[in-house]
Amino acid sequence: MSNVFIKTVKQILRGEKRASLKKFLNYIDAVFGKKFKGNHFNNIYFDGNAQDCIDDNQSPLHKIIKEHQGNITDKWEQYLQIYEKIFAPFIIRAKPINILEIGILNGGFLQVLEKFFPKGSKIIGLDIEKKCADLKLGGGGSSIEIIIGDAAQEDFLDKSFKDSKFDIIIDDASHVNRNTIITFEAMFDKLNYGGIYIIEDCHTSYWNNAAGGFQRKGSVIEYFKTLIDALHFYYIHPEITAKIKNAYLKKFNSSIAAIYFYDSVIAVEKYVKDKTLPFRRYIAGQNAPIFRDDCALTINQDTKFEKFFA
Ligand SMILES: C[S@@+](CC[C@H](N)C(=O)[O-])C[C@H]1O[C@@H](n2cnc3c(N)ncnc32)[C@H](O)[C@@H]1O
Repeated sequence: MSNVFIKTVKQILRGEKRASLKKFLNYIDAVFGKKFKGNHFNNIYFDGNAQDCIDDNQSPLHKIIKEHQGNITDKWEQYLQIYEKIFAPFIIRAKPINILEIGILNGGFLQVLEKFFPKGSKIIGLDIEKKCADLKLGGGGSSIEIIIGDAAQEDFLDKSFKDSKFDIIIDDASHVNRNTIITFEAMFDKLNYGGIYIIEDCHTSYWNNAAGGFQRKGSVIEYFKTLIDALHFYYIHPEITAKIKNAYLKKFNSSIAAIYFYDSVIAVEKYVKDKTLPFRRYIAGQNAPIFRDDCALTINQDTKFEKFFA
């Protein structure tokens, strides 16, 4: 260890590690230097190298976060673009919405959400940390409310959100895999039709210290991979669905419209109403001069189909 240290010091003295040294000194300056006074940070970005694959840094959400002067919020850079995309339909509708963030810490993201969504939106933060109850976050015409409790306790969630419905739910809480799944199973029902449920930091799915692991049963990523089967429930051969424990697959088939996997973020979209039957096919037009046996479009005289268009 000491040899490595001496070697590194020698390299620094020879000027060979200038870039790393500069990065390290910038980091120290950012954390302990002029920018750090008590508990007040001043928009610190720990890694200044924006990734080229992230499109544009000028989106409205990015701008709000860049200019944010309130309480701290802590996000990975790719999340901003993901959020911008996921939130877009709600911004287009331009109506106040109900949002729940689970895991708020200093509540900075609640303040960002308040600035981003239409005035009158109701923003609720849930955290296990009792001190969060004393956060002063409001302003700007929306109402921010804070609830204290454990998001991994189903009973608590049922009781606290008995009559609540949200358009957006964000889980940024413990990131312990089984907790995330418990919260999802309890709270997906609390989503309005057309709403979206977002889980941050899903990379902990691969971490042993968060009760995850690569392709480990019960990890968040594996759980949501299985929900892809729920999405396609009606296409699974009945002989198979008869054998497997499928109640939850069918349950989620009626409500899950889409599952998006991003880097470290999973977003699950709810249908605009319950789906109670398999989807139908729309076959439009009159002429089919080409018929092929290997094409599933083949219609013979016995095929019964409704006329969708008068
Ligand atoms: C990563 S921080 C949240 C950061 C915040 N969302 C932001 O954008 O800055 C995680 C928070 O989740 C809370 N938390 C952890 N376990 C929880 C649980 N079981 N129920 C509710 N909150 C929990 C912690 O107290 C902490 O405040």
